Amino acid sequence: MKILGIETSCDETAAAVVEDGTKILSNVVVSQIDIFAEYGGVIPEVAARSHLEVILPVIDKALSDANCNWGDIDAIAVTHAPGLLGSLLIGTLTARTLAILHDKPLYTVHHLKSHVYANWLNPKMNPPEFPLLALVISGGHTQVLYMPGHNQFEIIGTTRDDAVGECFDKVAKILGLPYPGGPSISKAALSGDATKYRLPHPKVTDLDFSFSGLKTAVLRAVQKEVDVPISYPSHQLKELLSEQQINDFAASFQKTAVDILLEKLQIALAERPETRSIVFAGGVSANQFLRRRASSLSAVFPEPTLSGDNGAMVAGACFYEIESGVQPVDPYSVNIYPRTSIETA
Ligand SMILES: Nc1ncnc2c1ncn2[C@@H]1O[C@H](COP(=O)(O)OP(=O)(O)OP(=O)(O)O)[C@@H](O)[C@H]1O
Ligand SMILES: [Mg+2]
Repeated sequence: MKILGIETSCDETAAAVVEDGTKILSNVVVSQIDIFAEYGGVIPEVAARSHLEVILPVIDKALSDANCNWGDIDAIAVTHAPGLLGSLLIGTLTARTLAILHDKPLYTVHHLKSHVYANWLNPKMNPPEFPLLALVISGGHTQVLYMPGHNQFEIIGTTRDDAVGECFDKVAKILGLPYPGGPSISKAALSGDATKYRLPHPKVTDLDFSFSGLKTAVLRAVQKEVDVPISYPSHQLKELLSEQQINDFAASFQKTAVDILLEKLQIALAERPETRSIVFAGGVSANQFLRRRASSLSAVFPEPTLSGDNGAMVAGACFYEIESGVQPVDPYSVNIYPRTSIETA
């Protein structure tokens, strides 16, 4: 079964054709990173307009790269939740128009399910086994999910404030490193000393996370290091830091964030001893330091290029939804849900 997956929940316009949930026939991603690097973050209105400009060429390229025409496509899958309202609208309106035009069944897919199913997009690897624990670590979410089987999700831990990816982005801003913060922090950290600055772990006793305190702890540590009061404007701190100090802060922060994630995962494993696989999902799962630190867990990671937003993971998740008995939606009444949880999608 060949599924065309369409993803526009944030600032990537993406489409892909995937066969049977595992074999990627094409995967086209147009990122708006260059636009938003200038601003240090995503501007929702600009993101929606950029999706509109490129979505049809992106879909055309996904079909031609896969050597497919519309007759070869069995279904269309599109992200309808969660994400930026305007961005989700462009993807779903395009998908439903194409579904009506080409008479294809249309499926709507929750974005976090797609991130999780990026771990099945490798036909050469044994698929993860159930029950499994999935650590979703992205720009907007930090959740521990328990999956007894395909398309079954229980949230057993979630962040109470910032997502870990958001924390990477905000700390990068304090340090004057470019957006998105994850890749630039991990690059700077390669030349830094991770033991230089001691940063606190949040006092959250259950499986929930909290990352806003860590971001503030970095801010206070930087202010102390350069000897300015806490009222000093954070966007001017970078001018007072040496390159070595930036690298040391990046390494110390990255180590602390990764330690927090892995500590929670250990608690989740102790609570769910029947777990047979651990999978990581979302943009932060591209982090090489995390991958090295998690190697003793025999965890499954997506291909680094599939950790961030892409259409292949949408098509992959849709295949397993169909296998689980999910029915297509009526293209005339598709809705978007910018904040819906994976448990209710
Ligand atoms: N190597 C890396 N190390 C750490 N973080 C990274 C790395 N690469 C990307 N990230 C982070 O991943 C995030 C983007 O991931 P993703 O595209 O999954 O998020 P999103 O789609 O914006 O949010 P969500 O999936 O929650 O809706 C950004 O916060 C980015 O800084
Ligand atoms: Mg995402």
